[in-house]
Amino acid sequence: MVEELRLDYTMAAKFVGENELEQMEPKVQHAHELLHLRTGAGREYTGWLEDSLADNQPEMRYIRELSGVVRNEADVFVVIGVGGSYLGSRATLGLLNHSYYNQLSPDRREGPEIYFAGQNLSPVALTHLLEIIRDKELFVNVISKSGTTLEPALAFRTFRQLLEERYGKEDARQRIIVTTDTKKGALRRLAEEENYAALTIPGDIGGRNSVLTAAGLLPMAVGGIAIEEILAGARQGCHLYRNVDLFHNPSYLYATLRHLLYRKGKTIELLAYYEPSFYYLAEWWKQLFGESEGKEGKGIFPGAVSFTTDLHSLGQYLQEGMRQFFTTTLWVDQIFLDRKVDAVQDNWDGLGFLNGKTMQFINEKACQGTMEAHSEGGLPVLQLTMPRLTPYYVGQLLYFFQKACAISGYLLGVNPFDQPGVEAYKRNMFSLLERESTGEEGIS
Ligand code: PA5
Repeated sequence: MVEELRLDYTMAAKFVGENELEQMEPKVQHAHELLHLRTGAGREYTGWLEDSLADNQPEMRYIRELSGVVRNEADVFVVIGVGGSYLGSRATLGLLNHSYYNQLSPDRREGPEIYFAGQNLSPVALTHLLEIIRDKELFVNVISKSGTTLEPALAFRTFRQLLEERYGKEDARQRIIVTTDTKKGALRRLAEEENYAALTIPGDIGGRNSVLTAAGLLPMAVGGIAIEEILAGARQGCHLYRNVDLFHNPSYLYATLRHLLYRKGKTIELLAYYEPSFYYLAEWWKQLFGESEGKEGKGIFPGAVSFTTDLHSLGQYLQEGMRQFFTTTLWVDQIFLDRKVDAVQDNWDGLGFLNGKTMQFINEKACQGTMEAHSEGGLPVLQLTMPRLTPYYVGQLLYFFQKACAISGYLLGVNPFDQPGVEAYKRNMFSLLERESTGEEGIS
């Protein structure tokens, strides 16, 4: 049965009144029009809204073909990219694949080991990765919308050189897949010159909204994820979340609730999850909201907590520290596997009452108990529930957040699709490195 994501705000109700939500309706309507009529700031980067979800058979065939080659021939697939160019695929692979995917024996995984590079300037991380992949059949996917971002560019130098040394220039060409802007940028030029297989991030989609383009889909397909299902879920999200009535549109409702909470001084949102596999989804979400809203001295700071782990570290602060937080709990109704607590005869730990209970059941009680305690302690709690952890619902979730983020940005009065602030450190860094900026950084 096809269900939908559900948003519950009963544990935020004492902080945000129904009448306040109703008063927001005209503003939400306006934000919706700015986005859908493409009259808002950053309208040139709204291709993710509908266009990129259209049935693009040639592109999908090419992704399938390339992923098939990589799955057949590679022992190791290295995805090079930073920010929006890697977080979406890493999040999805983390959610849907085995927790120890790379350590599984090849017959249990049916695809190559997948590693990510180009997210930092760490010589240690790069050197250690090179050690891990030594002697293994290697394919590389370099992803950069602008084609000039420092971290992936430097990592790609290393991997391109390694491939050419190992396989010769001609064979190395068959092992490099470039994902970049349709027309612009150094990487597009290089791909054309070198005849590398090249996939496209459309010009009207910025990095942090590119998860449902080839940037996200190729690594997902290499990892064995059903990308058609991801897209089907996103399309359903596109259909569901265009309803302008915020009481019938959980994505808009979420955007509005967080906006009202922000206006009441709740300036930090923590995405709380109870499955560690959500770690990179939370990283993706942090980039999406942080880069889209944090500007002009405004914006909610997005953070994340992994529960119950972090209840043993940050739990005290959250319960009794400063009250500038609210949490958005991500919950999955039916996790894809469960196990019963092992029964012990001597009841040495006094936990005999848990014999035979499932871990998901206990996790759920921990989640409920935490949400109630936080809400009672002055911390508003929103809860977003996925019916199941499947590609379909992951696709819907990704779209849910992208849509909410755009509306939230317009409610705040900022351009949700630019990121002028990230240039400041780059200018300093390049001037310290005694190099003039090319002016191409940060196009995406
Ligand atoms: O959302 C964005 O546009 C950025 O965060 C980019 O994803 C990030 O900077 C990587 O850029 P690029 O893909 O151009 O290398």
